[in-house]
Amino acid sequence: MPSYFRHPLEKAVDEVEECLDLGLSTFILFGIPSYKDEVGSSAYDKSGVIQKAIRQIKKEFDSVIIITDVCLCEYTTHGHCGVVRDGEILNDPTLDLISKTAVSHAEAGADIVAPSGMMDGMVRAIRDGLDSNGYENIPIMSYSAKYASNFYSPFREAADSGYAFGDRKSYQMDIHNSDEALREIELDLMEGADIVMVKPALAYLDIIRRVKDSFNVPITAYNVSGEYSMVKSAEKMGWLDGKAIAYEILTAIKRAGADLIISYHAKEMAEFL
Ligand code: PBG
Ligand code: ZN
Repeated sequence: MPSYFRHPLEKAVDEVEECLDLGLSTFILFGIPSYKDEVGSSAYDKSGVIQKAIRQIKKEFDSVIIITDVCLCEYTTHGHCGVVRDGEILNDPTLDLISKTAVSHAEAGADIVAPSGMMDGMVRAIRDGLDSNGYENIPIMSYSAKYASNFYSPFREAADSGYAFGDRKSYQMDIHNSDEALREIELDLMEGADIVMVKPALAYLDIIRRVKDSFNVPITAYNVSGEYSMVKSAEKMGWLDGKAIAYEILTAIKRAGADLIISYHAKEMAEFL
């Protein structure tokens, strides 16, 4: 992904400092572990890469807001977001592991946890885990309406989270279906989600708008890696004015109803604005 790097732990603080200078203060962290196994145990290891990064960043800058992506796919050898048995991704045995992951992020100092695996019951499992460990005040931003999209491929390469077999269609949503997004969001809210997400953003503006009109809760739109990379490649070819296009896309996402936007354009937009 153009302009995106895997930062070693020691460099994470420098990156945060650079963003703070641009006026950006909220970060979402993704980890690349040195060790992967079948059950993604590095995801909930107290001295895992994310847990260490949070401690390190918080030690230097206590006003920074840290959101953590809570999922197993970067930590499993097969690359799926849950426990696999006989080629099938198992929902319920995954819940305990993602709950443990969220609790370990909160212990390390995360401000918001963001489960991205689209497992049924994940928000409830995380809420229970956080509450019973003294983290009642840590909010959950759920990737509630996450589509099985082709727009994630640059991320999967960057985060080393591609899968070894099959696809993610048994847990991520069918791109043809929009009613299901509302059902997924309703379920997550009943389970205790504080912020809900629609992902991807640009090809899903209709979904963002439907969610905005149906629920009075904060909505995050995730302007994903493929959306970003398309703009960057066209800019590189000299076909488009990259910054102006990014601004137009982000404005459309906002107009559609997003309250928060996660975007790889954040640094250049902060400069641009
Ligand atoms: C992990 C996860 C993914 C993204 C965020 N968290 C990838 C996926 O589901 O394959 C995508 C981010 C992007 O494309 O920018 N579950
Ligand atoms: Zn995942």
